[in-house]
Amino acid sequence: MEKMQDGSKRKRMTCHLLFCVCTAAIGSLQFGYHIGVINAPYKKVQAFFKNASLERSGKAMDDCTVTNLWSFAVSIFSAGGMIGALCVGALVNKFGRCKSMILCNILALIGGALMGLSSAARSYEMVILGRLVIGVFCGLFSGLTPMYVGEMAPTALRGAFGTLHQLGVVIGILIAQILGLEVLLGSQSLWPLLLGLTVVPAILQTVMLLFCSESPRYLLINLQKEDEARRVLIRVRGHEDIEDDIREMKDEAMKVAMEKKVSIPELFRNPIYRQPIIIAILMNLSQQFSGINAVMFYSTEIFINAGVTEPIYATIGTGVVNTVFTVVSLFLVERAGRRTLQMFGLGGMAVCTLIVTIALGLVMDPCAQRAENPCGGPVVSACNRTIEAISEGPKTSAVSYVAVVAVLGFVASFEIGPGPIPWFIATELFAQGARPAAVAVGGCSNWTAAFLVGQCFPLLMNLCGPYVFIIFLVLLVFFFFFTYFRVPETKGRTFEDIASGFAKAASSGHAQPPHLEGGVTVPVSPSEKVQMV
Ligand code: GLC
Repeated sequence: MEKMQDGSKRKRMTCHLLFCVCTAAIGSLQFGYHIGVINAPYKKVQAFFKNASLERSGKAMDDCTVTNLWSFAVSIFSAGGMIGALCVGALVNKFGRCKSMILCNILALIGGALMGLSSAARSYEMVILGRLVIGVFCGLFSGLTPMYVGEMAPTALRGAFGTLHQLGVVIGILIAQILGLEVLLGSQSLWPLLLGLTVVPAILQTVMLLFCSESPRYLLINLQKEDEARRVLIRVRGHEDIEDDIREMKDEAMKVAMEKKVSIPELFRNPIYRQPIIIAILMNLSQQFSGINAVMFYSTEIFINAGVTEPIYATIGTGVVNTVFTVVSLFLVERAGRRTLQMFGLGGMAVCTLIVTIALGLVMDPCAQRAENPCGGPVVSACNRTIEAISEGPKTSAVSYVAVVAVLGFVASFEIGPGPIPWFIATELFAQGARPAAVAVGGCSNWTAAFLVGQCFPLLMNLCGPYVFIIFLVLLVFFFFFTYFRVPETKGRTFEDIASGFAKAASSGHAQPPHLEGGVTVPVSPSEKVQMV
């Protein structure tokens, strides 16, 4: 009976805790919004680039320059993300979690204003600069939200809370896809509003953050404000029995006080951190090198091939699958564990990639992409066909529908594990001292990989056609085995326990066994329900 009460206490969710984590997740929503927002209105924004340059210089930009400038505007977002992600550590150590989020919103206001006013100012440079600033903002939030949420969550719910970041991202993508419809904000005159709308959630989140509690771990471990940390813990836990949390934090504080400050180079030099930082980096790489963004980008093409007359709605369908399976992951992650879901997701993606590749190989014309490239010549020599012949297009067949199902399966598998888990794994693998630097490195590797996929995918696509997905297939298989052999389960374990597991493994010279679940674990039985108080 007492055990049952303990269990429900550990999983108790207070309104204040929910308010704090949802406030932080507005940052994730913004991140997703800016991933999804550029797809629908891109032709209109490109036309604006052309008109603005014509009005200013009297000379129209050629199509190739417009395409290149647009690609630059798209990819500069990831470059900004890399910068933002790298700055997370320094920011949170100086200002704490909540104040850092408030400060970041200044960037959303600047970026939103630049993009929103670009059309009125007849300046396409403002769109590009705005995308850079918003990229920095999103890079910062890709570390801030998981870190704050992970530190606020009770151990038994940390994975489910960690998934909230990705849930925010996918909902943001979906909102952007819907608002981007021509009948809503994706029109010739309203696209600046679509891009600038980001200032609204930024203001809302800033106001809400004023009512959020600072992370108790930051208060106690970084600022040594034990009384304040106790007050926050009682409020977010909904009961006074917080001694276990306080004891664990004090142990961690003692260790942090003995260590020198953990910088990014220190993460690679010190054997205690080497193994977990490699895991954090590779899991983040697995998220991007799984090819998720390539497939999402390519999905419209696949849907057209399957004969879908309004592919934009099918794309929104992908967004819905994305969201539904992130919710599924949220409920599974505390039962099945991170490692199992990550492997299940990578395995599912590999199978779906294989099906997509075979199906596309059968139905698609590998030359079609080249024919659309305004920077390419009129005849596609390698394919030995003229544009007229290519534009006849492939024939719709049952195989195309198999490709559509495989794309949806791919997206669903991604959201089960490789979507949400990498975002919070760095927070889980490190204790307070090294966490900010580790989150920065993990986030920066994620953004760098996203940038590389964005840059290389169109080129590879031109070279290999649909067989480009074989590259992702090989990478998926590699990440699957890496997870199997190297990634320990972190479900239900305290931060302190996870970190000391790696320290012990480093001192004995062994890599940590993958299925290690020992130490201070918090048992989570499926029958324990999350209790709302
Ligand atoms: C993750 C990835 C992002 C991707 C999204 C799709 O958040 O970081 O690049 O677009 O998932 O749901």
